[in-house]
Amino acid sequence: MQKPTIKQITLKNLMVFLMLLSLTTLVILTLNFRNISVRIMEDKALAISEVVKAGLTSHMRAKIMAKRDYFLAEINALTLVNNVAIIRSKEVTDQFGAGHWREKTYDHVTQEAFQTGRPVFILNDIDMEPYLRAIVPFIASSTEPLNCLKCHEVEEGTVLGAVDLELDLTEYRDVTAKLLAAIGFVTFSFIFLIVINNFRTIQRYVQEPLNSLIKKTEQAYQAHTPINADEFECLEFEHVAREINLFTGEAIHRQEVIEQKNLALEVMSKEIERTLQETLFTMGVIEEHRSKETNNHTLRVTKYSQLLGSKYGLPEREVELLAMASPLHDIGKLGIPDSILLKPGKLSEQEYEVMKNHCLIGYSMLSHSKRDVLQAAAIIAHQHHERWDGSGYPQGLAGENIHIYGRIVTLVDVFDALATKRIYKEKWALPEIVAYIKKERGGQFDPELVDLLIQNLDEFLVIKHRYH
Ligand SMILES: [Fe+2]
Ligand SMILES: [Fe+2]
Repeated sequence: MQKPTIKQITLKNLMVFLMLLSLTTLVILTLNFRNISVRIMEDKALAISEVVKAGLTSHMRAKIMAKRDYFLAEINALTLVNNVAIIRSKEVTDQFGAGHWREKTYDHVTQEAFQTGRPVFILNDIDMEPYLRAIVPFIASSTEPLNCLKCHEVEEGTVLGAVDLELDLTEYRDVTAKLLAAIGFVTFSFIFLIVINNFRTIQRYVQEPLNSLIKKTEQAYQAHTPINADEFECLEFEHVAREINLFTGEAIHRQEVIEQKNLALEVMSKEIERTLQETLFTMGVIEEHRSKETNNHTLRVTKYSQLLGSKYGLPEREVELLAMASPLHDIGKLGIPDSILLKPGKLSEQEYEVMKNHCLIGYSMLSHSKRDVLQAAAIIAHQHHERWDGSGYPQGLAGENIHIYGRIVTLVDVFDALATKRIYKEKWALPEIVAYIKKERGGQFDPELVDLLIQNLDEFLVIKHRYH
């Protein structure tokens, strides 16, 4: 799954934070607003009850208490008032009589107001028709102007009665709901604006410079040029750019050092390879001198092998191996006694058998090594007297069972030997050599190699004359 970007993480956290903050604020606002509204409605209920109290007192003083229902009906007709009633206490009933039936309503709420002498409020703002019921007790007081004790034969502080009032809260609830909706709208608009603003800020000050920094870092490393740290607006990105410059500079320096070391190693490796090549060649020359063979036979065999290997299509490395290994083809002759090796004229059958051992001696000298050059040299020393038709020595291998190195050196060794004077024979003319090689096509020599040599004879003759 793809990882979220800095922008996505920041915006998600910001959204969650702002939503929680605004919800908390809304809940606090709602509760406070409800409390304040309820207090206002309670104060209204107390004010109306004061009016009722004053009205009833004035009726009493004017001795028109019998007309009080007209007054109460007017109060009842006020917009907010659902219902208004008065309740007489036992003391008032004892002094003035029971009043009419409505003035006897006495439930557990009014009982609480009579017992405590304090107003009792009951709020119902859940129903479809919300209301506030208030039972406000009248306490006997001698304080002017409403001196109750002038008419009532009770002690000061006695509860004379109560106003039982019910106010309609429908309008109040509608206003509350509208106000909260407005606050909610403003809050969420505010959140939206904050999120948009943050989106743009992150885009401009984080995401764009970060992408730019990544791109410039790649370019800086490839082009070996530092990033311009001053172009970043934020301090943090400027610092990162400077750090990247330090790091890139160090990495480039180390890379250059490694490249120089690699170059030196390459030179050293080539030097070692050339030294090895010359050492092997020198070993071949030592053998050549001991055998009193014609000068430069080893060098020409090396060049011919290299040329024929290339014509045959061997890979470059194998042509190199062939050129380095072919000088050692007769190294085994170092193990042949001088009396046989240097004998002028034809060898006896017994002497010839001894002479043939130089292949096995050469192989045993070289085959102990695991180095590819010496492995190749061992193969050549072992197989350069094998014949394509299987009548050669020492193993009597035939055709492609003879390694290609062995087949190549067999042909070029004979080609060079025939063209030069040896202690046991005279030098042959070129037509005779060519005739012999053609005659042995498929006999002593690999037919494909014979064809290649004949086709490219000019190039072989160039080598022959150059290293005469
Ligand atoms: Fe040989
Ligand atoms: Fe040779």
